[in-house]
Amino acid sequence: MPYFDAATSAPLHPVARQALLAALDEGWADPSRLYREGRRARMLLDAAREAAAEAVGCRPDELVFTASGTQALHTGIAGALAGRRRAGRHLIVSAVEHSAVLHSAAVHEGQGGEVTEIPVDRGGRVDTSLFVRALREDTALACLQSANHEVGTVQPVGEIAEVCRSVGVPLLVDAAQSLAWGPVEGDWSLLTGSAHKWGGPAGVGLLAVRKGVRFSVQGPVDERESGRVPGFENLPAIVAAAASLRAVRAEAAQEAARLRELTALIRARVPELVPDVEVVGDAERRLPHIVTFSCLYVDGETLLHELDRAEFSVSSGSSCTSSTLTPSHVLKAMGVLSEGNVRVSLPAGTSREDVERFLGVLPGAVSSVRDQLGAPVGGGASAGRESLVLDTLGKRCPLPVIELAKAIGQVAVGGTVTVVSDDEVAELDIRAWCHLRGHEFVGEVPADRGWGYVVRRLS
Ligand SMILES: Cc1ncc(COP(=O)(O)O)c(C=O)c1O
Repeated sequence: MPYFDAATSAPLHPVARQALLAALDEGWADPSRLYREGRRARMLLDAAREAAAEAVGCRPDELVFTASGTQALHTGIAGALAGRRRAGRHLIVSAVEHSAVLHSAAVHEGQGGEVTEIPVDRGGRVDTSLFVRALREDTALACLQSANHEVGTVQPVGEIAEVCRSVGVPLLVDAAQSLAWGPVEGDWSLLTGSAHKWGGPAGVGLLAVRKGVRFSVQGPVDERESGRVPGFENLPAIVAAAASLRAVRAEAAQEAARLRELTALIRARVPELVPDVEVVGDAERRLPHIVTFSCLYVDGETLLHELDRAEFSVSSGSSCTSSTLTPSHVLKAMGVLSEGNVRVSLPAGTSREDVERFLGVLPGAVSSVRDQLGAPVGGGASAGRESLVLDTLGKRCPLPVIELAKAIGQVAVGGTVTVVSDDEVAELDIRAWCHLRGHEFVGEVPADRGWGYVVRRLS
């Protein structure tokens, strides 16, 4: 059964398994003890740190292991903000960061700090000049991911790191999605990663803090991991994480080229095979293994179930938001369609046959969901009405968009349809529908319940 959700968690790399089993036998003792078993554990930990530091591009004493990528982000952001308290309390983040960054930003704001969120373009990429313009004298920290977890767009980290360095603001890079493919370019100050994204075991993250970056640990201090991460290290998992990082890097160039071709195939073929689809994310500056698309008139959760029945494991937008019934903050920030969203993220070793099979199954899965929802087929005949109000209160997306698509033919070109909806997703998807269909999103007007979204028919 093809597993296409490596961006959530990659299958365990064979090298990780081998290293894990060996380290369970060799690395169970306390690395801070001076007896033989402790010394053996210490050697394993030191070797793992050296290997990870080499892959990251930092000194071993700049890198600590955490219990997850999330913990690395929480610890890194809190420590850097506290270390720079004298400079100020202004934090910069991009709008498409992982929720661990955005949650840290919310905590900072709740404690009286100020946060600037940098918008992204339709491809999900931050504009360097906007990011640079947000830097201020009282900026304590800036955060930018190396690449986006939902759409794979690679961010201009090198350029932004250079500017941050020149004005003395530390840049924290969340490299969770890209570290398998290579080190992060540029002169960053802090960097985080997550082992289960590169084929290591879950429960290991890493945090690198360059020498000279002011950092003040928050919470009770423990003596392990330079006082930055409390508690007894999960040494077998750390050893496996470092070994697999080295292994995936050795295969990275070849595997990236192979997977890039497969995701390019999906990018090209999906719009040919399935009508009313928007492939999202930057077409060029992207990770090799991720491709994301949204299907009009489709409910994402139902589509995932259809694909699961056809034996394909994919995810919809961010795993953190797909179960909350709110649109993914990434797709929202990009202003793209969120309904019927599918993220395909190929693990290393994915075969072309499996991708071809996926492309064979997808059109049927989408049309089955569309049939269930009564999605429109073709454009309706034109009638001469100037305006029309559609009451879709109580209906969840994609139904408001489906009703809009069926009704647009009932107004004359130049006429308007107002969709009254109380679904939070409606605005985003109606805007995206207008963009895809070439109609004008005029704006929103308050309604007794929810909002009226006004659309002008242009053709
Ligand atoms: C970009 C990014 N940052 C951070 C994380 C969090 O990593 P972890 O799952 O190890 O907590 C993830 C995981 O989804 C991610 O994709």
